[in-house]
This record gives sequence, C-alpha cells and structure tokens, in this order.
Amino acid sequence: MVEPILFVTDLDHTLVGDDFAHEQLNEWLLQARETGSKVVYSTGRSLIRYQELATEAPLFEPDLLIASVGTAIYSRLDELPNVEWQQKLTAGWDVDRVMAVTAHFSDLVPQADSEQSAFKVSFFLTEEAAIWVLPQLETLLKQQNLEIQLIYSSGRDLDILPRHANKGSALTFVRQTLGFAPEQTIVCGDSGNDIALFAAGSELGIIVGNAQPELLSWHRDHPTPNHYLAKAHCAAGLLEGLQYFGFR
Ligand code: GLC
Ligand code: MG
Repeated sequence: MVEPILFVTDLDHTLVGDDFAHEQLNEWLLQARETGSKVVYSTGRSLIRYQELATEAPLFEPDLLIASVGTAIYSRLDELPNVEWQQKLTAGWDVDRVMAVTAHFSDLVPQADSEQSAFKVSFFLTEEAAIWVLPQLETLLKQQNLEIQLIYSSGRDLDILPRHANKGSALTFVRQTLGFAPEQTIVCGDSGNDIALFAAGSELGIIVGNAQPELLSWHRDHPTPNHYLAKAHCAAGLLEGLQYFGFR
C-alpha cells in the first residue's frame, strides 16, 4: 500500500467474531502500520470491558482507543482519557438529572456499573418497550433542557450520551488530531452505535454482512458509493471491503 490510512473499527461483531479472519486482518493492519497507517478501535465498551475482550480475542494494542460509545478517548491505555475531549462533552449535560428522569421508566434496566460513567448512562431495553419509551424519554429529557442523544443498538442497548458525544464526533476529533483526511479514513461497524461513524462525513465505510437491522436500514436510506455492505461476517467482511476499495 502506498498511502497511509486511518482504520477505525468497532469491535464486537465487527472486528471480533471470526478469529481466523481477524488474525489475517491483523497481519494486513500491522503491515500497513509500518508505512504510517493508524489503527483505532471504537467500541461501546468501557476500558475495563475492552481489556476483558482483549484477553479473549486476538486484539493487538491500537494507536488509539475510543471507548464508551465515543465518550472516552485513550491515547494510552494506562492513562486517563483525553481531557480536552471530555471538556467538550459537559455542555448541557447533567448526569444526575438524566438519571432522575430515567427513574420514571420501569422498562429501563440499568447495565453493569462498569458501563456507567460521568458521560454515559446505559440501560437494557426491549424492542417492544423501546417503541414508546424512546420518544417519551427523549421528550422528558429535552423538557429539562438537557442536551442529550439516545442511541439504541442491537434491539437491546440504550445509551444516553451528551449531545456532542458519539462514535462519529469522536472519530472526527481523533482524525483531525492524527492528521488524516476523511478520504484517507475507513470506518467499520455493525450496529446502531456505529451509524454515527458512517454519518460523520466522506470517510469510506465497511458494513459487515452480519450488521443489525438499524444500521442496514440507515444504510438503505443514505446510499453513497463511499459505503460498502459486505457479504461476509465480522473480520472476513472487513477483508472483503478492503479488497472492494482496492486496498488489498
Ligand atoms: C457495549 C457497551 C454497552 C453499550 C453497547 C451499545 O456493549 O458495553 O454499555 O450500551 O455497547 O453501545
Ligand atoms: Mg458492534
């Protein structure tokens, strides 16, 4: 490969899920890194749950980790998340008031403590309940002048985040920090929290063949030659996409 790229990938059910293809992709990525490319993982998981996954899957240490659905950016895994980024997230956000509003909804089942943070409040929510809970919750939060966004993924996970935090805005921050143009950037994902990666701008995108309905329907509604929907699942789909775009 001639030109360095910024490769930004989700982990669960995107990079992770097919160890054989994952190892093959690792080889390609590590080689690309030698000529200036950078690899960024962008996950919904907290740092702790990322580290758990790293013991189970063949993950190498990335150049940067975007954790907790874009609310925490780590340039080193043994240091605190980027402070400049966290400061941007405080506008219009008040975690205690967000939690007070969510307490009115018995269908919202809190996720593990490790997945809650100062900038991310996460629940499990069934698809049936989501139909009426999501609009009502959004209305109530906005009535409180809270600047939030709701991200619902995989018919199960609800993340309430500050208005300016998601995988897409974190990608833009990281891309500009590392000095890559959108055209030199590839984003990869499978579910609702990845939509912001694909919606960020003119980056190239690979959607794995096993993507969730919410990402597939977003893709159908926002057609662009920049995005490739792979047939293969997980890392095999990423290898297929890299080939489609002529990188390998
Ligand atoms: C990961 C996180 C969880 C989040 C989900 C969807 O599973 O651990 O907190 O809700 O991604 O973003
Ligand atoms: Mg995923």
